[in-house]
Amino acid sequence: MGLYENIINKMEKISLIGLGYVGMPIAVAFAKKVDVIGFDVNKEKINLYKGGLDPTKEVGNDVIKNTTVDFTSDEARLREAKFHIVAVPTPVREDHTPDLTPIESASRTLGRNLTKGSIVVFESTVFPGVTEDVCVPILEKESGLTCGVDFKVGYSPERINPGDKVHRLETIIKVVAGQDKETLDTVAKVYELVVEAGVHKAESIKVAEAAKVIENSQRDINIAFMNELSIIFNKMGIDTKAVLEAAGTKWNFLNFSPGLVGGHCIGVDPYYLTYKAEQMGYHSQIILSGRKINDDMGKYIAESTVKKMIKANKQINGSKVAIFGVTFKENTPDVRNTKVVDVVKELEEYGVDVKVVDPVADKEDLWREYRINLCEVEDIKEMDAVIFAVPHEEFKTIKLEEIKMMFGPTGYVNSEVMNEVAATSEFDLVNDNKEYVLMDLKGMFNRKEAEDTGFVYWRL
Ligand SMILES: NC(=O)c1ccc[n+]([C@@H]2O[C@H](COP(=O)([O-])OP(=O)(O)OC[C@H]3O[C@@H](n4cnc5c(N)ncnc54)[C@H](O)[C@@H]3O)[C@@H](O)[C@H]2O)c1
Repeated sequence: MGLYENIINKMEKISLIGLGYVGMPIAVAFAKKVDVIGFDVNKEKINLYKGGLDPTKEVGNDVIKNTTVDFTSDEARLREAKFHIVAVPTPVREDHTPDLTPIESASRTLGRNLTKGSIVVFESTVFPGVTEDVCVPILEKESGLTCGVDFKVGYSPERINPGDKVHRLETIIKVVAGQDKETLDTVAKVYELVVEAGVHKAESIKVAEAAKVIENSQRDINIAFMNELSIIFNKMGIDTKAVLEAAGTKWNFLNFSPGLVGGHCIGVDPYYLTYKAEQMGYHSQIILSGRKINDDMGKYIAESTVKKMIKANKQINGSKVAIFGVTFKENTPDVRNTKVVDVVKELEEYGVDVKVVDPVADKEDLWREYRINLCEVEDIKEMDAVIFAVPHEEFKTIKLEEIKMMFGPTGYVNSEVMNEVAATSEFDLVNDNKEYVLMDLKGMFNRKEAEDTGFVYWRL
């Protein structure tokens, strides 16, 4: 019997190495069909999972409580598995070069515990060549085994989108690759156990590695183009959103919008490709230009806010600005590499006192990584400008009249309460001669309504 048959007959186990946003949902999905060992170096995380808690919010506490994944931080348990999936982080360093430390370290751990007849599949996003040229030599050295003879390798990039309940592991076609036909067939059959949308067999491991890294590079470049358009149209006094709505009626106009590009994927993966290209003697032009535009957007937004405030006769040094939303995108607690922080830091350099409101963000991570504390919406009063940076569901019910209150001494008041008691003059309603600067980065509000309500309105 082959490895696949042994796995489905529960004579052999699958292991997951790295149980974060990617690895944990994969482990849980496989555990519905076969025996799974879930390994992570982070003991605290393993204890949370064992205690039935899901810090990533990807599958929820109930699913973690009921899963049969055998969670462990004991690397020796990896010896019990014959099919290994590695999903550890692949970040960049300060200088934007790939930091392969976690994937190299995971390869060493796995190598020490690798047994004959195993298949190792990498899921982490990498540049073409990392699996075969970086990880395989480590696996061979640590195990004393020979790749292609004693064990085989494959690659299958992850395409999930955290916080997205529609595009999930089960519903996204999975690209799979193996070092030879037999390995490819086994890897494909194993993933077909959980991926209902089916698999695409790539012709080689390097092709699959390249496919993943260009998916996110393409997205990055398209958003950079939108950001550049936004800078140009703002200079011309034309509304970018209105231009995109008009252009979007053409059948082949691509649907992208301007915005901050943060997180650990789109803002990071293109650097993996450009790094490898540079090593091969080619200096990327389009990819790096796109990266530069997107990386500079936080500064541009802060400068645009200051310009609007100056035009509204505000004294900048010592002024107060509220920012709504600090995560790298909407409806996720994830603050890794969020570019909203660039807006905060840049405004602070002008002497602005910045208040950040975000009911979704992971408070501890925000403090640990950026030394930023969160405020409650009720604390937002006497502002000189308000920035809506991330369109969380929680913010969609906030009304323009409520935002106006944030500029006065009473501060935010729920509009129902406001209407009930307005007649009693209990609230010191805002002075109508004031200039209300509203920076609506993602176009959550209607421009005309905002302007008619008296706001100095700006969006990307
Ligand atoms: N999160 C996404 O949306 C997403 C989507 C597609 C691809 N990816 C890629 O998937 C990979 C993993 O991303 P993630 O978001 O799950 O990261 P993550 O940080 O959420 O999780 C990674 C986990 O690996 C663990 N880990 C680190 N070093 C380890 C080691 N040596 N041995 C065992 N465990 C180790 C960490 O403790 C952590 O729990 C990255 O390459 C990323 O680019 C992520």
